[in-house]
Amino acid sequence: MEKAEVRNQTPIVEFILLGFGNVPELQTLLFLVFLVIYIVTVSGNILFVALVVADQQLHIPMYFLLGNLSCLEICYTSTILPRLLASFLTGDRTISVKGCIVQLYFFGILSNTENLLLTAMSYDRYLAICNPLRYAALMNGRVCWQLVAGAWISSLLLCTIVNIFFFQLTFCDSKEIDHFFCDFSPMIKLSCVDTQTLELLTFIIAVIGTFVPFLLTLTSYICIITTILRIPSSIGRQKAFSTCSSHLIVLAVLYVTVLTVYVIPTANTPKVLQKIFSVFYTVLTPMINPVIYSLRNKEVKESLRKAILKLVS
Ligand SMILES: *[C@@H]1O[C@H](CO)[C@@H](O)[C@H](O)[C@H]1NC(C)=O
Repeated sequence: MEKAEVRNQTPIVEFILLGFGNVPELQTLLFLVFLVIYIVTVSGNILFVALVVADQQLHIPMYFLLGNLSCLEICYTSTILPRLLASFLTGDRTISVKGCIVQLYFFGILSNTENLLLTAMSYDRYLAICNPLRYAALMNGRVCWQLVAGAWISSLLLCTIVNIFFFQLTFCDSKEIDHFFCDFSPMIKLSCVDTQTLELLTFIIAVIGTFVPFLLTLTSYICIITTILRIPSSIGRQKAFSTCSSHLIVLAVLYVTVLTVYVIPTANTPKVLQKIFSVFYTVLTPMINPVIYSLRNKEVKESLRKAILKLVS
């Protein structure tokens, strides 16, 4: 029966990403807003990476991981924003099916790696606070490299498996995707073949890629917080907490927005609201992350001040 359906309908070769509607007066405004966001995101993250690379004092695992996260954030927004900006400018909202799957592929790899890097960072904070005597031995440059490489390689593998299946789908229900980039669930709704296996596979991979890191992060933070609460002096407590507060804020922002987009929505959640929350975690978090860890870490502020002084003089 499925086969007959496929034969009746001609497969679609391109989609229309409905994005933020087609009101002509809004396009220029949206273009400018997202252009500013994109420029701020890319330059903020490049600046942060430059600080981490240039300043010897920031050559510790925590900043290496943050620097890697910043590199990743630049790629992450670049999978979505340039295409969106072009469509505001030209009014052309079509994207080929292949292009859409490729966008989904890169988006998947990058968000999964981001997740794993944040988990690696909680492991780093866990060792620093709960196991300070062995921290230097357990968290050296080599381990740091292995964590970073492990995050990239495993995300690449998981997403490649899903995408091999994705490339075999045909789409024929409708051309319209009511979103501003090619995300998993809006795309799978348009497929005209049976997607049950693919949905099950993605579910399993999402559990491995998201839920397991989430549990590891949660466990690390439970240990961190109980250790901090046991520190007798309040100055000591504050000092220990300040080394992980920026990471905790970044985690909270990420998990809250991702939960609102992927877990909580019901059939009658307005589409507009879902798009706004998607903007939050795809576009706004990469922009504010470098700001959060620059403002909350004394070393970064210090390093920034030194760099500015050097530039001025
Ligand atoms: C990324 O992590 C590696 C491994 O620790 C480190 O050597 C490298 O400098 C980091 N890159 C940035 C930009 O921070």
